[in-house]
Amino acid sequence: MPSGYMNYIEDELNKESVFKAEHVLSIDYVPRNLPHRGREMQILAQGFKSLITAPGQTSPRFIIEGPVGTGKTAVAKLLTEQIVEAAQRRGINLYKIHINCRVSKTMYLVYLRMLREFKPRFPRRGHSPHELLQVLVDVLDERDCYLLVVLDELDYFIRHNGADIIYDLTRLMDDRLNAPQRLSFIGIGREISLDRGLLDASTTSTLQRNILHFQKYSAPELYDILKERVDEAFIENAVLDETIQLICDIAAQHGDARYAIELLWRAGKQADREGARVVIPDFVRQAKADTHPELRKEVFLTLPMHNRLLLLAIARCLKDNREAYVTMGEVERIYHSVCEEYGEAPRAHTQVWEWIQDLSAHGVIDAKRSGAGHRGQTTLIGVSDVPAEMLERFLLDMIETT
Ligand SMILES: Nc1ncnc2c1ncn2[C@@H]1O[C@H](COP(=O)(O)OP(=O)(O)OP(=O)(O)O)[C@@H](O)[C@H]1O
Ligand SMILES: [Mg+2]
Repeated sequence: MPSGYMNYIEDELNKESVFKAEHVLSIDYVPRNLPHRGREMQILAQGFKSLITAPGQTSPRFIIEGPVGTGKTAVAKLLTEQIVEAAQRRGINLYKIHINCRVSKTMYLVYLRMLREFKPRFPRRGHSPHELLQVLVDVLDERDCYLLVVLDELDYFIRHNGADIIYDLTRLMDDRLNAPQRLSFIGIGREISLDRGLLDASTTSTLQRNILHFQKYSAPELYDILKERVDEAFIENAVLDETIQLICDIAAQHGDARYAIELLWRAGKQADREGARVVIPDFVRQAKADTHPELRKEVFLTLPMHNRLLLLAIARCLKDNREAYVTMGEVERIYHSVCEEYGEAPRAHTQVWEWIQDLSAHGVIDAKRSGAGHRGQTTLIGVSDVPAEMLERFLLDMIETT
């Protein structure tokens, strides 16, 4: 190779890294052990044990509630995996499905997703939600199968569609006289309101006894969680104990394990960028400037490209105005120039307005009607906790890398 040329790939491959298994820190990795969630795992195991000891005789239902990053999704994934494994060992046809209700946004889509697990080519159109559910039960009967469904992010779903889905799934089994119980579920959300008069009293009271509240993690609890990840993800002695301590102190303000793990990962990336062999506390401080507990990657990844462009417009508007809220008109103006920048045709006002409502219902932005002080009525848009500049950088990163 002529001198003066640089092979960037070889150079990158030759670089040493503080990581030995970086994927252990990725958002969808579920560890085999969840420190400080033993009690919760145990309660759920007790609640769902009958699926194996007496298949068809009961259909347990649970609700898991708790703040961001408290291990709700991780616990449900690990538990359902362990139940299915135990069922397989005993020759019971138990299946599990984990449904993200931010992605499957309507009852129809949730039921279709469940049904397609068994009939992958079931047509998308031509049936009502209830018909889909009935077909599903028939298939389960026909094949002598049982299904445990996890309805994750159910709080957003209920805010959009009401709580009928819980009623449907409960009644579906309760109404079957002498026929095997085929379907059980776990619903997950930050707060799931069952008592808005949407559910009948008996559905509500059975469920109320099966609500599990997850508490925020304390700093020492986060320490134990991080310590296990450090051992799995990093080469030996690459992360200083002070570094872990600092992450715990920062993340304990939110009690959020996801934020803690993200800080750990970013601090490691910073070490690699600087060619350092040790992850020092200062890398955590730098990582903290780049991320925010409200910026949940998996939420943004479920958003279509056009919603990301709209959010980018909102972030830029807020950054330029330095105000807590900007108007719909201002946002749309910037949205047009953002679309131009990315070579996309901007969508019409009514569509954009719908997206704003949708993003607001998903808790990604704050949208409210203007009060006095604004000429006429308009929609005001803000983002609650995240600095606009950080949101902008986060979105740019996501738009360019995914
Ligand atoms: N007790 C624990 N031990 C190990 N890792 C954990 C524990 N609790 C949470 N985590 C990890 O922290 C991250 C966030 O957890 P999880 O996704 O389960 O939170 P969540 O309660 O579902 O949050 P959200 O409400 O935002 O969906 C995941 O990477 C998960 O593996
Ligand atoms: Mg979750």
